[in-house]
Amino acid sequence: MEVVIVPDAAAGGELVAEAIVRLLNRKPDALLGVATGSTPLPVYQALTARVRAGDADVSRVRIAQLDEYVGLPADHPESYRSVLHREVLTPLGIPLSAFLGPDGTASDVPAACAAYDRALTESGGVDLQILGIGTDGHIGFNEPCSSLASRTRIKTLTEQTRVDNARFFDGDITQVPHHVITQGIGTILEARHLVLLATGEGKADAVASTVEGPISAFCPASALQLHPHTTIITDEAAASKL
Ligand code: GLP
Repeated sequence: MEVVIVPDAAAGGELVAEAIVRLLNRKPDALLGVATGSTPLPVYQALTARVRAGDADVSRVRIAQLDEYVGLPADHPESYRSVLHREVLTPLGIPLSAFLGPDGTASDVPAACAAYDRALTESGGVDLQILGIGTDGHIGFNEPCSSLASRTRIKTLTEQTRVDNARFFDGDITQVPHHVITQGIGTILEARHLVLLATGEGKADAVASTVEGPISAFCPASALQLHPHTTIITDEAAASKL
């Protein structure tokens, strides 16, 4: 596990964008795993700038979604599908046909989860997976006590995560869904390169447990210690408890 401490979120974004540019130059049809949340936004902005500058061609790239709310219509502005279209696909000019994601509106959610897990494998697997981290150490929506071998499945959000995410729903926790679909920890660990970003003091405990704590389901991100190619990118504040 490599830990890189950067001066600020923008520097982290540029570093990850550089890794993606290199990947695309080596493998133009790479499958890029993307996360939502505010932390990865500088990555998408920096990548967009690099692509517009002609440093990489995204005409063959494919994009895979990490997690999704259950029950939000796909066109709801806060469904992760909408968020990723807004923040990744549209700025980069990537067509919908290049997008892989679970169906959060399916009538049979477990079947939708299994289908998505299978689709990821059949598409050759994720080449580079961008991850954020929850204040409780969750990755994707794998809350504490998730099995470290878990596959894509339905999960119930903790109260803490619903409180944390209420900011995307006008601060109204009653609007935050209770259930989600998330790639499992075992699924995430199959990506060839994992890049976890964390910024701000609020993530310092989670980063310390991820990097220096025991591998434990109490901190789902600690499972990244098991992966042969993990890069953790943090600012000084998020690294302050290392
Ligand atoms: C949500 C997402 C995670 C993300 C986390 C942190 O729970 N499911 O993938 O890592 O939020 O979000 P932020 O980066 O906004 O702190």
